[in-house]
Amino acid sequence: MTSYGMKTPEWTQRYFGKLYGQLYSRHLLPSKQTRQEAEFARQVLELRGKRVLDLACGFGRHSKILARHTTVVGLDLNNEYLRQAVREFPKRLTHRFAPIRGDMRQLPLRDNSFDAVLLLFNSFGYFVQPPASPSLNVKRELWKLPQVFYERGLVPNDFGCYRPQEQQEASARSSSEENSRDENEEVLKEIARVLVPGGRLLIEAPNPRPLIEAVMSAPRRWLITKDFEIEEEFSYDRLRKILSNVTRFALGDHVEVADYYLRIYSRRELSAALRRAGFTIIELFGSYDGEPYSPTVSPCMIFHAKKREDEKSHGKRSRG
Ligand SMILES: C[S@@+](CC[C@H](N)C(=O)[O-])C[C@H]1O[C@@H](n2cnc3c(N)ncnc32)[C@H](O)[C@@H]1O
Repeated sequence: MTSYGMKTPEWTQRYFGKLYGQLYSRHLLPSKQTRQEAEFARQVLELRGKRVLDLACGFGRHSKILARHTTVVGLDLNNEYLRQAVREFPKRLTHRFAPIRGDMRQLPLRDNSFDAVLLLFNSFGYFVQPPASPSLNVKRELWKLPQVFYERGLVPNDFGCYRPQEQQEASARSSSEENSRDENEEVLKEIARVLVPGGRLLIEAPNPRPLIEAVMSAPRRWLITKDFEIEEEFSYDRLRKILSNVTRFALGDHVEVADYYLRIYSRRELSAALRRAGFTIIELFGSYDGEPYSPTVSPCMIFHAKKREDEKSHGKRSRG
C-alpha cells in the first residue's frame, strides 16, 4: 500500500478511529444504501471504463461496487480502513483497485490522471480551526431571523447573536485566519489538478438548513442497540459556520470519545468555491434518488461538476 506522511488535524485521527470504522462498516451503512449511492455515481459520472478516484474512500464501500465497471484508486488517510477495504474487496476485482494512503489537501497523484473523482458522505469541510473548547463555544442566541435572511445576505451573519467582547475578538481573529487560506478550497483545487480537462466530480455536502434546524431542535442524540451505543452532542457556530460534534462510541467494553468539526457551506458558497477551483457546475441533486436540490427539504447537496476544458493544472504543486 502506498503511503505518504502528512501533518493532519488531530480530530480526524481521533474521530475516524477503530470504533467509527467498526460501527459504520458493520452496522450503520446498509448495503442497499451503498449500492444506491455507487449506482447513482456510476450513472451520473458515466464511469464505465474511466479512471476513477474515490477520495476519502474509507473502507472502500463505493470502490468495491464501482470496480465492477472500471478501475478505481481509493485514497484515504486511515491505513486501517484501506487494509479493511483490500481484505474485503471481491477477489475477482482486486486488480482493479489501488489503495493509497494520503491527505486530500495534497494528493500524491499526477496532474490530469483521472477522468472522475468522488467525494461522498460528509467528507468535505474538515479543515477548520476547532474552537478551544466545544462547550465554551456555545453562544447565547437572543433571537434569530429565519435562515433565509442569513443565506441571502439580507442581514449580517451575526445578526441576532449575543457575543461577549472576548468572543468577538476571537471570532474576528479566526475569520481573518480562515480567509487567508481555506484548506477546504485546497482540496477542491487538488481535485481539479488531478482531473483531466472535462473530467467530472461528484461531491456531497450537508444541506445547511435542515441540518442546522435539526441540531437546534435536538442537539443530543442516542442510538442504543443490544450490540453498541452511540451518543452524540452537536452545536453549531453560526458566525463561523462550523458544526461541532462530540460522539461517544461504545462496543462491548470498548469506548471511544471523539469530536469532529465540519465547515458547513451554503449552496452559494460551495458553488463559488467549485468555480474558483476551476469547475463548471453541471447539476445539483438533493439526494441519491436523483431529485433536484431543495434548500428546505433535501437531505444533502450533491454537486455534479466538470473541470473546465481551458483549465490547466490549478494546484501550486503541479506534478507532471
Ligand atoms: C465520513 S468518512 C467517508 C468514507 C467514504 N467516503 C464512505 O462513504 O464510506 C470520511 C473519510 O475521510 C477520511 N479522511 C479524513 N481526513 C482525511 C484527509 N485529510 N485526507 C484523506 N482522507 C481523510 C477518513 O479516514 C474517513 O475514511
